[in-house]
Amino acid sequence: MDQKLWSQFKKELPHKKGAFSKRNWGTPLHSLCSYQGKLKPALAHQLVQVFSKRGQTVFDPFSGSGTVPLEAAISGRCAVSNDLSDMAVAMSNAKIGNTNRMACDSLIDALIVWVSTRSVEPKTIEDTANIRFNKTIAEYFEPNTFQEVLKARDFFAKTKDLGDPNWCLVFSAMLHILHGNRPYALSRNSHPLTPYAPTGDYVYKNVSTHLRTKVHSALAAKESLPLTPQSISIQSDVRDLSQLADGSIDVIITSPPFASSTRFYMTNWMRFWFCGWSLTDFDNASAQFIEGNKDKSLIVYEDIFKSFGRVLKSGGPVVLHVGKNKAVDMSEKLQLLKFNDFEMVDVFSECVGSSEKHGIKDKGGTVEHQYLVYAKK
Ligand SMILES: C[S@@+](CC[C@H](N)C(=O)[O-])C[C@H]1O[C@@H](n2cnc3c(N)ncnc32)[C@H](O)[C@@H]1O
Repeated sequence: MDQKLWSQFKKELPHKKGAFSKRNWGTPLHSLCSYQGKLKPALAHQLVQVFSKRGQTVFDPFSGSGTVPLEAAISGRCAVSNDLSDMAVAMSNAKIGNTNRMACDSLIDALIVWVSTRSVEPKTIEDTANIRFNKTIAEYFEPNTFQEVLKARDFFAKTKDLGDPNWCLVFSAMLHILHGNRPYALSRNSHPLTPYAPTGDYVYKNVSTHLRTKVHSALAAKESLPLTPQSISIQSDVRDLSQLADGSIDVIITSPPFASSTRFYMTNWMRFWFCGWSLTDFDNASAQFIEGNKDKSLIVYEDIFKSFGRVLKSGGPVVLHVGKNKAVDMSEKLQLLKFNDFEMVDVFSECVGSSEKHGIKDKGGTVEHQYLVYAKK
């Protein structure tokens, strides 16, 4: 880490200045698919600059929509992303993996054939009928659009390949257009981040036309980026990073789920349903996802840091971007825990109370963003 840049960061909060302060700063590829809890790209960019050097391997073990890995891969770092959910892995791999237009177009062509020749699979009919969190899924779509969406769910289940960046890009684009309040969305009027109960007219939207438009705009954004070709995405529980070799990582920069805040799989429920989840998956998810962990002592971080300690090189930094809300002060709780392989280097807090809106009331009431910096002994 660059001490001078870190001191400057703390003094000046560069991600809040000038062009960096704009929500849409950075490549439009960051907007491949809406994701609640997404880090501001400008902040990810600054953290990558402060804590890593060109040529180093930067790992985000809770990569979500892939903001840190994408900023790392744009800045000449080798990015490694990990997340537990299919949705997050698809989004990260779509952004940092090697994609090409012909492969993406062939997938959409295959989807068109599937939708026009198949009927909906019984499992999809059953999963869909059982899930009704605010409204039924059928109520979100015009009936013919709904049939196409159901068949598209089957198509992606049958062709699923989270290791193929082309599949990931087309799938992520499909997840994005599922619901929203703008013309790109297949749903009736809803919300781009969380599927708020739909309102307004039932209008037919052709799935493949909407999908191709989104895929092409993402590819156009991606083709202009100098992405590091060796970047990779993996999928695992953060406590089991066995796919990564010992000492293979130079720097960890990550924003884990904030305690007592949003459960990502619930705020993204329709996208998780589209990824293949049934009602039982929602019921059982809290066992694996850190945000479902109700233990406010954050003791789970002892196992998380064991995993970090194995994959990180000696001297390598871990930067945790966490939050304080009314229920839990994560920084305070984490400082009470002892991580054997690590020493604490610094703690810094940034007040965010008034800026956390994005049109969503429940941001977990975060009042402070906290940066905890550790170094591996
Ligand atoms: C705050 S979000 C990360 C957001 C990300 N920085 C971005 O910009 O989109 C936290 C992520 O942790 C993931 N997660 C939760 N429990 C996990 C676990 N046990 N192993 C790996 N990932 C997990 C969630 O799926 C979620 O994507």
